[in-house]
Amino acid sequence: MMRTRPLKVALLGCGVVGSEVARIMTTHADDLAARIGAPVELAGVAVRRPDKVREGIDPALITTDATALVKRGDLDIVVEVIGGIEPARTLITTAFEHGASVVSANKALLAQDGAALHAAAEEHGKDLYYEAAVAGAIPLIRPLRESLAGDKVNRVLGIVNGTTNFILDKMDSTGAGYQEALDEATALGYAEADPTADVEGFDAAAKAAILAGIAFHTRVRLDDVYREGMTEVTAADFASAKEMGCTIKLLAICERAEDGRSVTARVHPAMIPLSHPLASVRGAYNAVFVESDASGQLMFYGPGAGGSPTASAVLGDLVAVGRNRLGGTTGPGESAYAALPVSPMGEVVTRYHISLDVADKPGVLAQVATVFAEHGVSIDTVRQQGKDGEASLVVVTHRASDAALGGTVEALRKLDTVRGVASIMRVEGE
Ligand code: HSE
Repeated sequence: MMRTRPLKVALLGCGVVGSEVARIMTTHADDLAARIGAPVELAGVAVRRPDKVREGIDPALITTDATALVKRGDLDIVVEVIGGIEPARTLITTAFEHGASVVSANKALLAQDGAALHAAAEEHGKDLYYEAAVAGAIPLIRPLRESLAGDKVNRVLGIVNGTTNFILDKMDSTGAGYQEALDEATALGYAEADPTADVEGFDAAAKAAILAGIAFHTRVRLDDVYREGMTEVTAADFASAKEMGCTIKLLAICERAEDGRSVTARVHPAMIPLSHPLASVRGAYNAVFVESDASGQLMFYGPGAGGSPTASAVLGDLVAVGRNRLGGTTGPGESAYAALPVSPMGEVVTRYHISLDVADKPGVLAQVATVFAEHGVSIDTVRQQGKDGEASLVVVTHRASDAALGGTVEALRKLDTVRGVASIMRVEGE
């Protein structure tokens, strides 16, 4: 039965994503109404620049007073697509206080203050949905929170930043250096004028925090996520990766410890074998690989950014929240019952690819091997290329803790025969 009283929706932000949300709400109005069970009505749009022409939006709905909008009291759903911490956080909690549920695309806020926002939603009996906060259009939050709720997720390995994947893919396919590939990403509109959040891994770290918390039913905040950007990755690293049958990706990796008593979350560039499904994720696409007890391996793939794909995720949440509203219920809230501690990076165990510049003379290899042995790091392969008394030594290790590897590298740097540590890269996905 269709209810005739519409669900009133306010939009906070009308940029690339918000304008697409408004457009789809209008063009797909009949389908949305049929799927929800009531029509949805755009009741107000809060913007910073009211004079900008916004096609398809009634100018009477535009306001610069987002606070007054969320305090109206007759709203059913507030869609927050302004991003950043404030004023988004205050607007969302105010919306709950005044009776609305919230759909948000705000990864930074969810990664920093997800627990408090979930608590506020629960206190007021409202929904907080945020499928669009991680990897744009790709369904991830709902599959992890609902479809896999009966399984035990052990690992989430993802390419969750399109800008950096575009840059790394360019470096891989053309042999370009980082700066050249970044310039192309900027020219094509993939990278922002200030690319720091993407290339230094902040964006991916926020997404890793959200994914880890949901996957492991525990709280993981942005500060818990170890982060390394990808600005130091070189064409030489790609050449080394190729020799190993690998490529390099900026990965968000969330893992449950083998004993199940803790979790880790990290973002850094890593080599992955070309045979791994994530290796074939090209351009600005995102993909997330999930490993769980019962399901085995799953991969979610698609566009991780952009107005339309992100709006698709927002609209999906809008339909779900609308249905809950009509049913007089709410969807799943925060599930953090496992309360697992987040271990520091030193406890992460993985393999490493280390490239050293060394003197090419008798005993150097033995010296280097001794340092690895002294730190309990087992060597898998060694490759040496020498020229004019100098050599490049590439060591690939078996699995070792990050702390042990760190100690090894520190000791290697102190050897007279080691001229420099050219690169250290983790090897994942094996
Ligand atoms: N800047 C992000 C990316 C999209 O390049 O994937 C928004 O999270």
